Amino acid sequence: MKTIFSGIQPSGSLTLGNYLGAMKQFVELQEDYHCYFCIVDEHAITVPQDRLKLRDNIRSLAALYLASGINPEKATLFIQSEVPAHTQLGWMIQTQSYIGELERMTQFKDKSTGKEAVSSALLTYPPLMTADILLYNTDLVPVGNDQKQHIELTRDLAERFNRKFNDIFTIPEIKVSEVGARIMSLQEPTKKMSKSDDNQKATIFMLDEPKQIEKKIKSAVTDSEGIVRFDPEQKPGISNLMTIMASCTNQSLETIESKYKGIGYGQFKQDTANAVIDLLTPIQTRYQDIVDSMELDDILDKGAEKASFVANKTLAKAKKAMGLGRVKKRK
Ligand code: AMP
Ligand code: TRP
Repeated sequence: MKTIFSGIQPSGSLTLGNYLGAMKQFVELQEDYHCYFCIVDEHAITVPQDRLKLRDNIRSLAALYLASGINPEKATLFIQSEVPAHTQLGWMIQTQSYIGELERMTQFKDKSTGKEAVSSALLTYPPLMTADILLYNTDLVPVGNDQKQHIELTRDLAERFNRKFNDIFTIPEIKVSEVGARIMSLQEPTKKMSKSDDNQKATIFMLDEPKQIEKKIKSAVTDSEGIVRFDPEQKPGISNLMTIMASCTNQSLETIESKYKGIGYGQFKQDTANAVIDLLTPIQTRYQDIVDSMELDDILDKGAEKASFVANKTLAKAKKAMGLGRVKKRK
């Protein structure tokens, strides 16, 4: 069976973009793959975090994975900082990464331009992500489109390591879902929907109340043509809502287009809001049951243990390949 690894940062409430671009695929994939899903808290601290909020976000993200349908009997769910091999291999990978290639990463540029104090870890974020993936002999990494560049770099770094030291890493491939890989801001539909948007109306959060969801979708920016047609260039707002509707209801864009022929944006927006609410309500109910439970701690303890077992084996191989540590003398 092939292995999948993916991670989400506990850096704020999860958005509908996270769900449709990442989490939804995870749930489907756990049936056919050996899966590791990680709460990447060490990635989250590459930008300033409030410690108490971070703690809450970690737990909340773990509960959302489970509420969305991740089954701990099938997939390994764990917190990155509870498996020390990640930062250990991350450091080793850093020694093989060039500053130039790290500076070229779009996410680094986006998060660092205009900032007064940029942590060096923001620059070395991709080698840590590379370590996350390589530790589990990962074949496939399901992520949203924005992570494509990081996965390409992961492949380059893994190949470089294999060439230079010993052929120990599996070269992973990216897996982007066909619909929903890039959900856009409701207010500026040419920009991706993000956890950290200053405009509250731009982002739907997975834990938003139905009323908030309805209000946000009804005030989503569209155009004056009045035709529900998929055209991301000319009609980014409507196309984004169509993508949302399509991935929430598993309908094709063509079906939606023909269904709304001659029907205005008002009805289309109302139906899109309902589709999102119908999708999120049961997840929210399960979330409330899990988030404060001891069962959640048990699942995360077991997850960290299972993950460590596999990760430590790969780490030991990589250390040996690089010549770290020592070989014990025998009598
Ligand atoms: P992050 O929130 O940056 O940790 O992202 C977690 C996962 O959600 C990654 O696989 C991202 O590619 C995916 N993701 C984040 N935002 C969006 C979005 N607006 N549309 C689709 N996928 C997204
Ligand atoms: N960088 C990813 C993001 O911002 C999160 C992440 C960290 C990740 N490590 C990973 C995703 C390993 C996939 C695999 O979304």
